[in-house]
Amino acid sequence: MNPRNAVDKLYGEIWADDSPALEAETEQSLNPRGTDWLFEAFEQLGPQPGQLVVDVGARDATHTIRLVRQHGLRAIALDPVELHVELARRAIAEAGVEIDVVQAGIEAMPIGDDAADWIWCRDVLVHVDLEPGFAECARILRPGGQMLAYVTCSTDKLEPREASWLFDVLAIVPESTQPDVIEARASDAGLSLVSKTELGGEWRERMLEAGTWSASDDLLRLSRLRRHGADLDDPRVAAYAAARVWGVYQLLGKTCPTVYVWTSSG
Ligand SMILES: C[S@@+](CC[C@H](N)C(=O)[O-])C[C@H]1O[C@@H](n2cnc3c(N)ncnc32)[C@H](O)[C@@H]1O
Repeated sequence: MNPRNAVDKLYGEIWADDSPALEAETEQSLNPRGTDWLFEAFEQLGPQPGQLVVDVGARDATHTIRLVRQHGLRAIALDPVELHVELARRAIAEAGVEIDVVQAGIEAMPIGDDAADWIWCRDVLVHVDLEPGFAECARILRPGGQMLAYVTCSTDKLEPREASWLFDVLAIVPESTQPDVIEARASDAGLSLVSKTELGGEWRERMLEAGTWSASDDLLRLSRLRRHGADLDDPRVAAYAAARVWGVYQLLGKTCPTVYVWTSSG
């Protein structure tokens, strides 16, 4: 079709009305799952009081504290970053719960073989060399123990230059965002796939519907950053910009947050 015909078709036919059917279709909520759903998914796995959960990459232990309170679990909050270890210790003291805080990475966890009933690993694996990481998870999980991991996977809509900028700026190991690599490395380590749930844009849709996050605010700040002439090569500016596109990329389908459950075959 030559461009003239294409223009006639676009304005004369496709955009001749306001596409009321598509407007109506996209006006309805699809009842997206929110971040709380991850706790429901964990609950459905059947954690029992007294069992040990290791929160790998726990940051400030907010989620560890919630898991302990919700299920009466024993817990270890593990993170390699000193600042996070301090924040976790402070939050745990304020919460008045008992949780061991360990400064370590997933690749070398000072935890005994078969010691853990559960691993909770939310939004961490993209930073990790998966081979040693999964080997350690398989080692500390008892046979039949389960690992729940939330991972922001990349999709084929994430263009190579976008990917290399985003991953470089956010300390992400590129292959650790690829679902086929993630699944192969887990399997190689002796972790069997129990379930895989692709959330896509659901969490972000839920945040938009609830008004707890604003995509337009992130985009507005990005545009202001550019027009300001901010130095996007500066690591702090670049990380700020990358964090602003993070949620938007989920809505655009460039990344696909995915929840995996694996079990250790022992
Ligand atoms: C995006 S934050 C997620 C924190 C928390 N799990 C959450 O969901 O809010 C990523 C976390 O992974 C931690 N992390 C980075 N590399 C890690 C590694 N090799 N082993 C364990 N944790 C790591 C970071 O310190 C940070 O706390």
